[in-house]
Amino acid sequence: MEIQRPRQPWVLVLSVFAVVCLLPTTVHSMVRHYKFNVVMKNTTKLCSSKPIVTVNGMFPGPTIVAREDDTVLVKVVNHVKYNLSIHWHGIRQLRTGWADGPAYITQCPIQTGQSYTYNFTLAGQRGTLWWHAHILWLRATVHGAIVILPKLGVPYPFPQPHKEKIIVLGEWWKSDVEAVINEATRSGLAPNVSDAHTINGHTGPLPNCPSQQGYGLPVKPGKTYMLRIVNAALNEELFFKIAGHELTVVEVDAVYTKPFKTDTVVIAPGQTTNVLLTANAYAGSNYMVAATTYMDAPIAFDNVTATATLHYVGPTTANANAAAKTVLATLPPQNATWVATKFIKSLRSLNSEEYPARVPMNVDHSLFFTVGLGVNPCRSCVNGSRVVADINNVTFVMPKIALLQAHFFNLPGVFTDDFPARPSHPYNYTGTQPANPATMKGTRLYRLPYNARVEIVLQDTGMITPENHPIHLHGFNFFEVGRGLGNFNQKKDPKKFNLVDPVERNTVGVPAGGWVAIRFTADNPGVWFMHCHLEIHTTWGLKMAFVVDNGDGPNHSLLPPPADLPKC
Ligand code: C2O
Repeated sequence: MEIQRPRQPWVLVLSVFAVVCLLPTTVHSMVRHYKFNVVMKNTTKLCSSKPIVTVNGMFPGPTIVAREDDTVLVKVVNHVKYNLSIHWHGIRQLRTGWADGPAYITQCPIQTGQSYTYNFTLAGQRGTLWWHAHILWLRATVHGAIVILPKLGVPYPFPQPHKEKIIVLGEWWKSDVEAVINEATRSGLAPNVSDAHTINGHTGPLPNCPSQQGYGLPVKPGKTYMLRIVNAALNEELFFKIAGHELTVVEVDAVYTKPFKTDTVVIAPGQTTNVLLTANAYAGSNYMVAATTYMDAPIAFDNVTATATLHYVGPTTANANAAAKTVLATLPPQNATWVATKFIKSLRSLNSEEYPARVPMNVDHSLFFTVGLGVNPCRSCVNGSRVVADINNVTFVMPKIALLQAHFFNLPGVFTDDFPARPSHPYNYTGTQPANPATMKGTRLYRLPYNARVEIVLQDTGMITPENHPIHLHGFNFFEVGRGLGNFNQKKDPKKFNLVDPVERNTVGVPAGGWVAIRFTADNPGVWFMHCHLEIHTTWGLKMAFVVDNGDGPNHSLLPPPADLPKC
């Protein structure tokens, strides 16, 4: 997938200048219109003839390309039997929470036959983000990339690549994903793992589908490419690798990083990573591109590796390459925690003069959230119990009306704002399991005043099993100021926090049996979802929301809802 640059406004500016001979030199931001028709479609990329839910018949869906400061309008028309909503993952949505998209959090879903126009401005962000359906498990096939180019005339803080390519990684089930999750919800057990992984919608050849074509990545010898990698998988963190080539990480979650070299990218569901790839290997070979699961907990996962091919093109290699042998990628073992840790610890904000890291130095709300699983009784379930997930022992219950509406219109009885700032019964989170793994239920939010400086320590628990949890916060970027294994130590660990150049992102991996500390400033009024981006954990209740009050005056207040906001 190659990125089409939007038409340059200066072409128009120059031609008008020729006539008028007097023009301001500033370049204005633009309004970009997209239409998303949600339709069923067969795709030949997959080893199946079953139609899937898509946007505009594409898998992955269309890429949104815009520049920093542009306004984007996306009209979503729902032609399928499922109600749905679309989330613009990582877009700050300053004061425009109505366009954020998580169903029953900021909007009621768009019903079959209905439409809704998402309207938002890309303020202060540039890089790769992505969009996806935000209801049930539809995001398995309803997703695509968002490319925010820097303002016109502003270069990247690294050498301009020859070309840019989008690499969307995904997970694919042979059966209907809605049936998969409905069955799991009925039984109270874990759902089936996926049948294969995908790279730009292609699995590559599979044991039971050997003729399946993989995605092809053509490169010219000596040129440098930027890959915009998105992990759109539902439940699996991934290793991404290209045989014979090193990659230089330059950005994650639409924030520039200090460049560093790696042979393996580690990427959790929800995260994006931009890397530079220089085509400097022997041009007489092809090179395998691979995406495979990273899983260091004792639970079932999909062990089918998605493969694609990097091949050299050019006057001398074009013909030779069809028959060239492919250099295979040596993949890390599936449980290679050391590979993941090395990668994650290398991530630093660029923190340059142009792109400073504005880390909150002081904290007004210090929160301690345990994240993990639990077990609740369930009479109709297979074992008489149901696997659930929670934050601070609260399994979040989705409301029937969107929380943002309830907040804006002061509707009583939809949520309470008493989400616990810390666990009510502390225990040794990473030690032996407590006797009672049951959780409480509730639609409980945590209230923050405008501009509050917030720290959250996210502590994994060993309830059932320790496991990685990629936690995503809507409406904000945050800084990862610290991480460690075992239980967080309030006396010792904050002394080691990095408040200078911590990585800034929107989705962070809480390590299995460990913790991560994040900080952000609550400068965006509205209701903002926070949840594990492993879709099964979200389904099980590993989610909560913040309600951020308005600040002083209209410029610091949530805008009123648009007229076409869907109704429940
Ligand atoms: Cu990418 Cu709440 O999601």
